[in-house]
Amino acid sequence: MSVEKSLIDEILKKYENPEESLIAVLQDVQAIDGYISRESVEYITEISGIPSARIMGVASFYAGFRLKPVGKYRIMVCMGTACHVNGAERVGDTVKRVLGIEEGDVTEDGLFSWEEVACLGCCSISPAMMINDTAYGKLTPDMVTDIISSIREEELK
Ligand code: FES
Repeated sequence: MSVEKSLIDEILKKYENPEESLIAVLQDVQAIDGYISRESVEYITEISGIPSARIMGVASFYAGFRLKPVGKYRIMVCMGTACHVNGAERVGDTVKRVLGIEEGDVTEDGLFSWEEVACLGCCSISPAMMINDTAYGKLTPDMVTDIISSIREEELK
């Protein structure tokens, strides 16, 4: 993915001292691409002089930053305690099998990515997962398969 340099220029202009506001800068960058790409980091370094090691240090320290691309549908499988006890592993295994990709990867068509995350805050419906902003709970392998299939079908229409 090529980085939108003009958008990064605009982001850097917003902040008087981009190095002091690095977290906010990176949040804005992530809002463009969905993750912090290596190209974005290199471009920020080129324009602002902030060392790439410092940018990568901040980006990898905070859990909110993603260093890999995500799909149009970002599936987050909860591996928190309640979900773990109630079958999160089966949910994760099903997502992996249905999508045919490893955790952290994106399907070739760019539609789906999946990752394991800590508690999503909806333990009462464990095991749970989120797809973008929508939570799905009390999941069985069949439900997971159906949810992903129906999204695929919608996308093919
Ligand atoms: S442990 Fe999964 S939602 Fe809380």
